[in-house]
Amino acid sequence: MPRLATRTHDFLTFHAVELFKQGQALQAAGKDIISLGIGEPDFTAPPQVVEALERAARAGLSGYSPPAGLMPLREAIAQFYHDKFGAKINPARVIVTAGASGALTLACAALVNGGGEVLMPDPSYPANSNFVLAAGGVPRLIPSSAEKRFQLSAQDVARNWTPATQGVMVASPSNPTGTSIAPDELADLLAQVRERDGFAIVDEIYLGLSYEGEARSALTLDDDVIIINSFSKYFHMTGWRLGWMIVPEDMVAPVEKIAASLQICAPTLAQHGALACFTEQAMKTFEHRREAFKQRRDYLLPEFERLGIPVPVKPDGAFYIYADISSLGMDSSTFSQRLLLEAGVAAVPGLDFGPAHGNHTMRFSYATGLDRLEEAVARIGKLLQR
Ligand SMILES: Cc1ncc(COP(=O)(O)O)c(C=O)c1O
Repeated sequence: MPRLATRTHDFLTFHAVELFKQGQALQAAGKDIISLGIGEPDFTAPPQVVEALERAARAGLSGYSPPAGLMPLREAIAQFYHDKFGAKINPARVIVTAGASGALTLACAALVNGGGEVLMPDPSYPANSNFVLAAGGVPRLIPSSAEKRFQLSAQDVARNWTPATQGVMVASPSNPTGTSIAPDELADLLAQVRERDGFAIVDEIYLGLSYEGEARSALTLDDDVIIINSFSKYFHMTGWRLGWMIVPEDMVAPVEKIAASLQICAPTLAQHGALACFTEQAMKTFEHRREAFKQRRDYLLPEFERLGIPVPVKPDGAFYIYADISSLGMDSSTFSQRLLLEAGVAAVPGLDFGPAHGNHTMRFSYATGLDRLEEAVARIGKLLQR
């Protein structure tokens, strides 16, 4: 076997995906597993979107697209950001990518130097560290707390910035906590970064799934942030591998150049299908489903309290509950395995999201129907009684 690059050791294992594989194997062996593990909506693309993809495939529109994506789609995304999140942007700043993952890869390739540090909160989406490592950078997880809604603060930036630091990565609402950064706090954080000439990557993949009041893009606070978003979550199209980034004007050409090599283009047929996401009918469907997610959250929060695994900060978006299992007397890996093997419920140990709270937290995804959530609560209750 050839000698592997040292980064293969540095890359963190994505436990949520490992758990998903374990759950699928158990399911294949005939066990009934309720999946509260992977962050994947149980809804699929609405019919209008599937029909648009079919039409495009039949018309033979399956060649490469320009590296930054089909212009009508970039225009539709810019309009969506204006109508839904209050940000007025030139469509030329939108770059269509292979999921938010593709956007994060390109963003890090364009911004992170070898040895350059990137600050992010602990807990964070686990792959973020790996995107930074892949670009030769150094991820630095800054322990956060319930008081800070498990987010990075302006003070964290000021305290932890070193001459090697290049920027920050945050997600609002966040994975794993479902908590957002309040606009005034985000503005302070962005000001600190700007003062240091750094970059801010703001992942808004869950912004469409906000449950408390109007959702506003970070672009309404600072036009220079690098926005990440996707068709995976609000639009329920995980496997279509389609997302986008919004970059400052001056970054468009360099990112396009990198995109042309690293992805050539995002999947073209998926792009044709995605155009139908922005029709009135499809948007109604997405909003209806957002309400369904909110209902699930509102059902689960008191149930978790009752089970003795409280949720330290009420999530205001995404489809995750980040619960504290300190009172159970076992660490999150043990609880996760017992939950899977004894109760048939898959949920992710907090360790996946960073060491600060890893041992005593668990992430439960409610991207599963209410009836299954009720069954999951009953199963967890029974396990805890044992
Ligand atoms: C915060 C966050 N960013 C990015 C991604 C990657 O999503 P995509 O399917 O668009 O690549 C995820 C997926 O769970 C996520 O939670």
